[in-house]
Formats: sequence, structure tokens, C-alpha cells
Amino acid sequence: MNINAIVRNCVDKIPPYIPGKPIEEVERELGINGVIKMASNENPLGPSNEVRQVITQMIDKIQFYPDANHYYLKEALSQDLGLKPEQLLVGNGLDDVNRIVAETFLTPDDEVIIPQPTFSMYKSVTLLMNAKPILVKGLEGIGNDLEAMRKAVTDHTKLIFICNPNNPTGTIVKQATLVEFLQSLPSNIIVVLDEAYADFANDPEFPNGLELLKKFNNLMVFHTFSKIHALAGLRLGYAAANPALIGQMQKVRDPFNVNILALAAGIAALNSKKHIMLSKELVQMGRRSFYEELDELNIEYLPTQANFILIDCKQDSQDIYQYLLRNGIIVRPTHSFGLPNHIRVTFGSAEQNNRFFKVLRAAWKR
Ligand SMILES: Cc1ncc(COP(=O)(O)O)c(C=O)c1O
Repeated sequence: MNINAIVRNCVDKIPPYIPGKPIEEVERELGINGVIKMASNENPLGPSNEVRQVITQMIDKIQFYPDANHYYLKEALSQDLGLKPEQLLVGNGLDDVNRIVAETFLTPDDEVIIPQPTFSMYKSVTLLMNAKPILVKGLEGIGNDLEAMRKAVTDHTKLIFICNPNNPTGTIVKQATLVEFLQSLPSNIIVVLDEAYADFANDPEFPNGLELLKKFNNLMVFHTFSKIHALAGLRLGYAAANPALIGQMQKVRDPFNVNILALAAGIAALNSKKHIMLSKELVQMGRRSFYEELDELNIEYLPTQANFILIDCKQDSQDIYQYLLRNGIIVRPTHSFGLPNHIRVTFGSAEQNNRFFKVLRAAWKR
């Protein structure tokens, strides 16, 4: 079989997604136990008790298809967010939502503006639709440069992605800059504001994407249950936007794209106010102790508004990544983001953070 003759050309161009290594894989490969993962920006608290309980109850229902309209979850979300259910599209994680956006709106004639470095899925779904990614380098190679992105707009621009706070830098676009940017754009360009990590931002100038929906019909805000709500393994995320955009996307998604456990867990997670508060506090604490520790070791990093931090190893980060791995700590080397000298580390529990610092100190002093 000649695979090149039968695969769509654009599929051939999609770079493979590089996930954080799973704990089991590292334990198997290295023959060690007690590995911790600080690689995929997951929540070390695990899910709330309310979520655990509802999942146990829902086990008896998994012979049924899930509700294709996501009715109760959308009701709960709309109350929580002050939006109408018609403004919401729920997906099997934001990865699903990303793909639905691309499949609904992108044609091979379209250009998609993607700042660099950022989350890789934006480029992958653009390539999947044979549209053209326009990669715009961030300020000093890091963070979003909205002015340069504005300049990259052409008659072919269909979609612009902004990740706020940005993965992998943890940097943010501030309210005034974002509003000015949105105002400067033709209204037929869709702007996706991916707020996967917004719950962890505490900068007073961090914008509220949902508020901006009232003003900008072409804005789409992404939220996920994978981070603050600790449901990454269940896969649940959603887009909020004007009903005209959402209505078209509803036709494109799979009818049963969200499983029955995730739908129920999502509602329970929204009601788990204490868990949400504790998750936020844990991240603020992690941020403080990482700053302190890294300052003491004189290691450069970017101040972060997310639940992870980008650390500059000042040399190819493979060496330190491997050292950490051998000592049972999985972090994320950022070569695939175009940052070969950095690692991205997710804040863990106090105990996990201390274990990381101990191994990092040893690695640094070698
Ligand atoms: C910025 C950003 N958006 C979306 C996602 C994917 O979210 P989900 O788990 O909901 O698919 C991630 C995952 O790490 C992310 O970093």
C-alpha cells in the first residue's frame, strides 16, 4: 500500500501531539514506583467528593446513551455563568471543541492566526481542515504579541486563537490590550479566547472573557473541566459564544460527544465550591513556593498566572528532564513548543513540590 497516495495531504502535515508521559509508562520503563506527574497541568487534589459520589451513582446508567442535548449540564452552566443555554456548546474536552470549531468554520481558503508559542491543538485542527496557520511570534519569543497579530490579518483571516493565560508561558493578555484588539478586528473574524487556565489568574487586569461576549459577537470563550475541576480523565469542556456561532457548531459535533459520567460530574463539579476554592489556593501556594525556590537557586522563569511555570534551563532541557524522570518526576520538556531550553512544570501538592525542589536542587548542583 502506498500510504502517501491515499492520505489527505493536509493530514500528513499534522505534527503528532506530544502528551505528558503517563505515570504507569514511566514506572514500567524505569522499573520504579511512586512516580509523580507534574507535566500536564492536572489538578493534584483530584476530583471533589461531590463528583466522586455522583459518578458512583451514575454507574448504574451507563447502559444508556448520554443526553445528546446536554440539557442539565447546560442549565447548570448557564446559571453559573449568567449565559443562555443557546450560547453553550459542550464537548468531549476542549480538544473536541477545537476540532468542532475548525470543522464548522475553516476551508482551505482560510488563514488562522496563531501566536507562538502556544497550545499545539490550534495548529493541528487548522492543518486538519487544510487551512493555513499563520504563526505569529510572541514578544521576545514569549507571550502573545497582539499588535503583530493584528498586522497579520488579511482578507483570508477566518479565525484567531488567543490562549489566556497562555500555555506554556503562563503569561496573560490584559483587559485593555484585548479589548483594543477585538475592537480593531473586522467582525467576521472569529476570535477564540481559550481560558483553560483562567481560574488560576489573579492579576487585577486579567480580562473576563464571558463579560466580553456581551460586546463582541465574534468572540468565543473556551473553558475546561480538566484543570480547576480535576476531570481531565473524563473529558469535558465547552465553548461560550453568540447563539448564531454555537448553533452551527451544534450541527457538526457528534450527537453523543459527551459521556454520561462526564455530564453528571460536570454539574457536581460546578457545585463543589469548596473544592474550587481549595484548588485555587493550592495553585497560589505552589506559585509562591516555586518563585521562592527558583529565586534562591538563581534559576530564571516566567512569572505565571496559570497552574504551571516555564523554567529556563539555559541549555537543552533534555538533560534536566531526564534527570527528573529518573528520579520519579515527570515534567514537560518544551521542545515541541519551539523552546528547547525550557521545561514546563505543573504545581503539585506541597509534598510533590518539595520533592521536585529537592531533585531540582541536586540536578542543578551537579
Ligand atoms: C490551553 C489549553 N486548551 C485546551 C486544553 C485541552 O483541554 P481539555 O482537557 O478540555 O481537552 C489544554 C490542555 O492542556 C490547554 O492547555
